[in-house]
Amino acid sequence: MTEVSMTVNGKAVKADVPDNTLLVQYIREHLRLTGTHVGCDTSQCGACVVHVDGKAMKSCTMLAAAADGADVTTIEGIADNDLHPMQTAFKENHGLQCGFCTPGMIMTATDMVKRYQADGRELTEDAIRHELEGNICRCTGYHNIVKAIADGASKMTSA
Ligand code: FES
Ligand code: FES
Repeated sequence: MTEVSMTVNGKAVKADVPDNTLLVQYIREHLRLTGTHVGCDTSQCGACVVHVDGKAMKSCTMLAAAADGADVTTIEGIADNDLHPMQTAFKENHGLQCGFCTPGMIMTATDMVKRYQADGRELTEDAIRHELEGNICRCTGYHNIVKAIADGASKMTSA
């Protein structure tokens, strides 16, 4: 067993977990934050993306112990009272069908927008499509997802 302590969505959490506990298992099974999904377990689909110390990370590729001391944000933690601007953009642009991939898409998208804004780079449609290579949508709704991210980027800029 390993003791892990971290901050998740602004709250300090601590637990003893088996050494091989993945971060996604810790988030879903110990903290019961089930908005982070598991679509593959082989690091391909991106349904499990969370932010670790401000960076998008596939939480099925990381041990909980490796996140010891980290600041973790899940889909449940990105909004204040209202929806996050990126969530509003997905809603308004029909950027989801079944919604299974959506938490990972939104966590990837918000990280993408922040990185491009920090570097002063333009987030073009081509760039969005390239950045989404690690996120799979089984409903194949990519066109509206790309539109939603572009809209979310401008909403985040003006928020
Ligand atoms: S569950 Fe992590 S990438 Fe698919
Ligand atoms: S909306 Fe169904 S998997 Fe993407």
